[in-house]
Amino acid sequence: MALISLPANSRVTEGSTYAAPAGAKNIKRFKVYRWDPDSGKNPRLDTYEVDMDNCGPMVLDALIKIKNEIDPTLTFRRSCREGICGSCAMNIDGSNTLACTKAIDDVAGDVRVYPLPHMPVIKDLVPDLTHFYAQYASIRPWIRTQTPPPPDKERLQSKEDRAKLDGLYECILCACCSTSCPSYWWNSDRYLGPAILLQAYRWIVDSRDEDTGTRLDELEDPFKLYRCHTIMNCAKTCPKGLNPAKAIAEIKKLLVARR
Ligand code: SF4
Ligand code: SF4
Ligand code: FES
Repeated sequence: MALISLPANSRVTEGSTYAAPAGAKNIKRFKVYRWDPDSGKNPRLDTYEVDMDNCGPMVLDALIKIKNEIDPTLTFRRSCREGICGSCAMNIDGSNTLACTKAIDDVAGDVRVYPLPHMPVIKDLVPDLTHFYAQYASIRPWIRTQTPPPPDKERLQSKEDRAKLDGLYECILCACCSTSCPSYWWNSDRYLGPAILLQAYRWIVDSRDEDTGTRLDELEDPFKLYRCHTIMNCAKTCPKGLNPAKAIAEIKKLLVARR
């Protein structure tokens, strides 16, 4: 299901077409969002015909091939190429996902590739995540303690307490969920959004953290938390199979329980 619309600056026109090499028999077309703020021009969709007999299986493989062999000006982020760094998050075939784990074969017809929606674009497929990271920093995402550490060992956790972090610690902060959330699109100045709230919950339920009360105080705010209307786009789109909406619901339950 297509979850999202085009990016905010979306007066996109057709751009150039780069034909496949002569003799290529297995061609896939990639229609890729291009925008260079220095050009003064509107965004465009360039079309790249890629010879799939000489390309890896993932969308990121195709983007790297395009950059290396067809058009070096194409700009995107990537690092790990195995779904762990979160840097290749983009909108592919209408859904936010990771280019390195999205199989080209899963897309019927042309592969349409856009930056994460409703974020400022720095260039081509690179969104500006400055505000997203500032929101992450605002929850102070580390263990906060009042008691001194044990003198001879780390702060330990039972297996049961460690298991409470399952479904949370796997988050790679790719921003796919937040940029698929309509509430975040319209209120991202004050709503923290699903990714940051999942992270906030990750620290709230960590048995080693001793600042739960303050963490909850800081979230009890009509905008930071309560803009979630359980639309569930976040859980549908998370490439790691996580459920930020559930984490948000758990925070709300904790706030009710302490009243
Ligand atoms: S919850 Fe999922 S989609 Fe959201 S930032 Fe974490 S890994 Fe990405
Ligand atoms: S469930 Fe909440 S956080 Fe997730 S997409 Fe919907 S409004 Fe956004
Ligand atoms: S390149 Fe790291 S998640 Fe895709």
